[in-house]
Amino acid sequence: MEEVLFVTPDNFALLKQIMEVMVDAWSMPDYAEALPPHIMKAILDNGGFIEAAVHGGRVVGFVLGFIGYDPEFGYYHYSHMLGVRKEYRGRSIALKLKLHQREWCISRGYRLVVWTFDPHQGLNARFNFGKLGVVSRKFYENYYGEIADGINVGLPTDRFKVEWWILSKRVEKRVSGHDTPPSYDEVKDVAQQLIHTERRDGVRIPTAISRDIPSELVLLEFPGDINSLKAVCFECALRWKHVFREAIQSLLKQGYIVVEHVSLLEGEERRNFYLLTKSPLDELLEGEYPWR
Ligand SMILES: CC(C)(COP(=O)(O)OP(=O)(O)OC[C@H]1O[C@@H](n2cnc3c(N)ncnc32)[C@H](O)[C@@H]1OP(=O)(O)O)[C@@H](O)C(=O)NCCC(=O)NCCS
Repeated sequence: MEEVLFVTPDNFALLKQIMEVMVDAWSMPDYAEALPPHIMKAILDNGGFIEAAVHGGRVVGFVLGFIGYDPEFGYYHYSHMLGVRKEYRGRSIALKLKLHQREWCISRGYRLVVWTFDPHQGLNARFNFGKLGVVSRKFYENYYGEIADGINVGLPTDRFKVEWWILSKRVEKRVSGHDTPPSYDEVKDVAQQLIHTERRDGVRIPTAISRDIPSELVLLEFPGDINSLKAVCFECALRWKHVFREAIQSLLKQGYIVVEHVSLLEGEERRNFYLLTKSPLDELLEGEYPWR
């Protein structure tokens, strides 16, 4: 395959092509939810970062971020969008875009990159926690209200805010491939499962939440594939959202940190979990694993 090039989109033709990638990557029905080129130009010319992945003269992926600030973190880079055309997925294009973004941020003195993502999207969870080494301490209910794209339509836009501490040992070990997320077997006996589930009519649904949490480590289940669950049982997908909300809000209030995505293949069934710990953030960023 011809090489994929990574470039700064420094003209309107490239910025317009990024808009096309947005429409494809998020299955948008039209351009209403896409970012117009003049906003991208403003971001690019005022301390933001946009990089395009180009194959055969055509933009096939991009990452876009700008400066952020809050009193707790100080200044950080806020990464708002990362998208790759469907036909180009699974070729590490997104990973390379994030690694370039990390280098760019380090060279400009940032220590932290922040973004939000839908906690029910298992592949995104794997990418963010497993490959990049983010952690999360914040969850928002219906963060954007209703978004009319193919991924979000019909369900509340609940989001994790994730922190990517780009200079930390944890991130360094993950992005260099020296470290991988734990397997289910590695943590199942030391972490307590908070959401109880069962399979009914061919789909897994949440049945109860444990009220007492004596454990320092918690496994929080979420759907194996929310996109297909939504198609076969919309009510089940909604129920997952509500049960997960209740459980995660309570854990974060008690000081737990979301630190890993753990995946399990049981026969044909994919199951997804988050692993949360009460360990201090500093220890986690040093690359320590309370379960090892
Ligand atoms: C998320 C996304 C950018 C990944 O792009 P990509 O170029 O396929 O990602 P990479 O090849 O670098 O990495 C693949 C990893 O991403 C994850 N991933 C997330 N979504 C995926 C998808 N739809 N298909 C394949 N892998 C996906 C997997 O963990 C995979 O890891 P693996 O290769 O070890 O199995 C792309 O699927 C996309 O544009 N999705 C829609 C927009 C979106 O959700 N953006 C927010 C991301 S937080």
